Amino acid sequence: VLRCLYPRALYEASKIFNVDSPESYKIGSVNLVTGRGVWIVREQEGFYAILAKCTHLGCQPIWYEDHQVFKCPCHGSRFHKDGVNFAGPAPRPLDRLYLSLSSDGHLEIDKGKTVGLDYRLKA
Ligand code: FES
Repeated sequence: VLRCLYPRALYEASKIFNVDSPESYKIGSVNLVTGRGVWIVREQEGFYAILAKCTHLGCQPIWYEDHQVFKCPCHGSRFHKDGVNFAGPAPRPLDRLYLSLSSDGHLEIDKGKTVGLDYRLKA
């Protein structure tokens, strides 16, 4: 009888979510969105979002501010700040995600939509 009270469905977080407003990010910064597996990078020219998932086998790379690189702890792949791979077994750059401005002025990330490496949201 109790079993019918619990739905047999799995719920997952929405792939589209908002983070802070653009003014919250310093130019040149790389910020991990905790619990979402996404980095927000702000450059002089604008913003982009990178999926924090190595393109080799899916580990989460770590950002090293002092060296300005992402390093994957699993098998040693290295990525430049823009997500382009330059060392290790990763076969391609980190995925870049669609980033836009929400109606209330926050950055909005769509984890379900990847974009090209030249995509930026203008600052
Ligand atoms: Fe990142 Fe293998 S999972 S290098």
